[in-house]
Amino acid sequence: MSAIKQNGDETYGLVARLLHWSIVVLVAAQFVVAWTMPDVHRDTQPVGLIAWHLAIGTALIAAMAVRVVWRVTHRPPPGTLPPLLDTVSRSTHFLLYAALIAVPLLGWANASSRGWKDTVFGALPLPALVPTGSTAGHAMGDIHGTLAWALLVLIGVHVGAALFHRFVLKDKVLQRITG
Ligand code: HEM
Ligand code: HEM
Repeated sequence: MSAIKQNGDETYGLVARLLHWSIVVLVAAQFVVAWTMPDVHRDTQPVGLIAWHLAIGTALIAAMAVRVVWRVTHRPPPGTLPPLLDTVSRSTHFLLYAALIAVPLLGWANASSRGWKDTVFGALPLPALVPTGSTAGHAMGDIHGTLAWALLVLIGVHVGAALFHRFVLKDKVLQRITG
């Protein structure tokens, strides 16, 4: 039970690991859909791949809400890295969390400014973050696209670090999240 809920001394608990990997799958799918969906213009309707972008995006918002609550109520396993690397690692994780919250919120605000109604898993309606026609909400669409690139760079650094630990340093950092 405790290995499921609590983070151990050497690995994250099962819930933290499941949240990590389900969000990885959602983010990967979200980028693929974002890059293949049609350009969004003034009169574009949220159908087809754009509807998928909204559906995956709202699932991500819900998953991140759970993850943030879980994270602040469950201390991660103690760090094993030297102080400087530990700070770099913690900062990267903090920035990943920040981007995983900011990017979807900006997308949500942009969808609201277009008057698009969105729901979590087709059931729970998401309230509008800004009024339809909001110029700020419109601008947030551009910031959303730009910050998505910043998120991608952070993911690149993060995955590079994980692979460096696994194949160069040959330590147990990767096992902390794979279990
Ligand atoms: C981590 C989550 C997300 C990622 C990585 C992501 C990524 C992207 C990217 C890369 C684009 C630009 C596509 C292009 O111009 O070629 C885009 C556009 C868009 N996304 Fe997201 N998105 C995410 C979440 C969301 C959410 C939660 C919503 C709404 C509920 C959303 C709504 C939109 C909208 C409306 C656009 C069009 C913006 C415009 O062109 O003005 N996105 N997204
Ligand atoms: C969309 C891609 C990814 C995102 C957004 C992401 C995000 C994160 C975040 C925010 C944490 C911090 C967890 C916490 O302390 O609460 C974390 C931990 C971790 N991630 Fe990822 N991750 C991604 C992909 C990957 C991949 C592909 C790997 C492996 C190749 C990986 C390996 C790890 C490891 C080993 C940790 C634990 C690090 C430690 O214990 O210090 N991640 N990830």
